[in-house]
Amino acid sequence: MSDDLKTLYGGVVNRRVTTRDLQDAKARGEKWAMLTSYDMLTAQLFDEAGIPVLLVGDSAGNNVLGYDTTVPVTMDDMIPLVRGVVRGTKRPMVVADLPFGSYQASPAQALQSAVQFLQLGAQAVKLEGGRRVVPQVQLLTDSGIPVMGHLGLTPQSVNAIGYKVQGRGEAGDQLLDDALALQEAGAFAIVLEVVPADLAERVTKELDIPTIGIGAGAGTDAQVLVWTDMAGLTPKGLKLAKQYADLRTVLGDAVRAYADEVREGQFPGPEHSFT
Ligand code: KIV
Repeated sequence: MSDDLKTLYGGVVNRRVTTRDLQDAKARGEKWAMLTSYDMLTAQLFDEAGIPVLLVGDSAGNNVLGYDTTVPVTMDDMIPLVRGVVRGTKRPMVVADLPFGSYQASPAQALQSAVQFLQLGAQAVKLEGGRRVVPQVQLLTDSGIPVMGHLGLTPQSVNAIGYKVQGRGEAGDQLLDDALALQEAGAFAIVLEVVPADLAERVTKELDIPTIGIGAGAGTDAQVLVWTDMAGLTPKGLKLAKQYADLRTVLGDAVRAYADEVREGQFPGPEHSFT
């Protein structure tokens, strides 16, 4: 049987998704969904639900570690999360996010950090930035490490650019140049975060590699959401994320019911007790 996936969701399912599969999906015009994951249980569930690419995002800083931004996140923070997501999955490509300070200093530093993630079982790494990280992308791809780029609102640069739409007006041409430079350096896909929808569509048409949008409209090849936003676990709704469930209410109700039953002596009942 051919090892080619006919669709990312319905093809051969007993192996990891590869960069080639994502390239083929772009050629077929097939859109796909990426989600963040930070632990074994959600990763397992997202694999079962057929998500082809999981990002162990440094958004763990906001969603797991309790920071206001992703800037404080370190390699040591990310390593156990990458381990959990790799161990929880069989089929999705696992992309590990290089945290702030783990790749900017030099291509050699980027290689050292990326190698750590690949040796934990991740299949690819992601890093933020355009032309300034091209030497890093070049060395990683030359070393056999698939690299996902990230342009537009790059949260690790929040102290320089803030949280606002990027690439409006002439900045759009610069973003396109950055995307082309990343592709030329060997990146296999590029995240476009919070950029005007028409710019994201233009970049998607110009590039041979897939684009993955978040707050970038419907014209990209794929979409990514932070899972806690998508599932309604994070407290406030964000314009860029659709909420597909209300886990905050579901979990809150479950926790209150459990505490009530303990207080009232209803839990544990005989069915949860041992003789
Ligand atoms: O860390 C993250 O979750 C991300 C996505 C928003 C693309 O970088």
